[in-house]
Amino acid sequence: MRKAIFPGSFDPLTNGHLDILERSTPLFDEIVVAVLNNPEKKPMFSVEERCETIREVLKDVDRDGCLLSVESFSGLTAEFARSINASAIIRGIRAVSDYEYELRMALMNRRLEPSIETVFLMAGEEYSYVSSSLMKEVFLLGGRIEGLIPDLVETKMREKLAR
Ligand code: PNS
Repeated sequence: MRKAIFPGSFDPLTNGHLDILERSTPLFDEIVVAVLNNPEKKPMFSVEERCETIREVLKDVDRDGCLLSVESFSGLTAEFARSINASAIIRGIRAVSDYEYELRMALMNRRLEPSIETVFLMAGEEYSYVSSSLMKEVFLLGGRIEGLIPDLVETKMREKLAR
């Protein structure tokens, strides 16, 4: 049973995240999307809202026989992975600028939990500049981001802004 986690803040989920997730499904029997509970970062969406939206979006994801679920977690990613018996951490790399940060995390996570491997997938080139923070910035300034985030996420962002 190959079980992995796909951790992140997902504030909000982007099509870049979905691309990585969809391309990971043939590699694992089960993937848990692990949503970090990080209230100190003042996220746009609460962890419950993020989990609920991701669960909804995942209904349309090509699963390739892979079991997909969404869970929130606090504390260390490596510890969460171990606690649910995952053997891998999936991360996407967009550009060279991601590499140093990801390398540090992968090495630290390996030190914390030597049995858990970090598996990197290269982001699709069409999403290589897409990040949650850029999506929020452009959206809040009135720019168009359709095609870069799931439609449901855009609807939820509009609802948030209207409130
Ligand atoms: O994709 P993101 O939002 O940059 O995800 C970053 C995330 C959640 C993977 C990272 O911040 C993390 O693992 N946080 C949990 C705390 C932790 O384990 N820190 C040590 C990492 S070596």
